[in-house]
Amino acid sequence: MNLRSSVDIITEWDIVAARQLGRNEAKEVGFGTVDQARITTAISELARNIYLYAGKGNIEIKQIAEGNLKGLLVIASDKGPGIPDVRKVMEDGYTTSGGLGAGLPGVKRLMDEFKIDTVVGEGTTISATKWLR
Ligand SMILES: Nc1ncnc2c1ncn2[C@@H]1O[C@H](COP(=O)(O)OP(=O)(O)OP(=O)(O)O)[C@@H](O)[C@H]1O
Ligand SMILES: [Mg+2]
Repeated sequence: MNLRSSVDIITEWDIVAARQLGRNEAKEVGFGTVDQARITTAISELARNIYLYAGKGNIEIKQIAEGNLKGLLVIASDKGPGIPDVRKVMEDGYTTSGGLGAGLPGVKRLMDEFKIDTVVGEGTTISATKWLR
């Protein structure tokens, strides 16, 4: 099983669309309402960061399976400015925009696996997985 679907993030409305897609996919995998909320919150934060810092990008949502474990993989990618100091952005309260700086640390807490690949001047790809328990 390797179903995927994606939403281009160009306008603020696309953030809502990505969130809705995430909820549908999470339901389909079998996540309960609490995990559905965790996943949709994570997607919102990633999509909002794309919109704010990269201008545009993409949220891809994949139903995944490893052995008899099922899960959902969220891949947020953009060709924006990249993140110069990944360690810093993972500290609670670090922001370059006057936000709360809670977004990325929050996404890491809400999901089971979390990875940032970023190159300054080229873009950012953030992958986050939630496993169904
Ligand atoms: N896709 C991205 N491209 C470039 N920089 C990013 C991207 N996502 C996050 N950042 C940088 O990482 C910082 C921290 O992001 P994070 O989401 O944790 O906090 P925030 O967006 O500043 O505030 P909050 O999400 O709480 O409103 C941002 O201020 C921004 O500088
Ligand atoms: Mg943010």
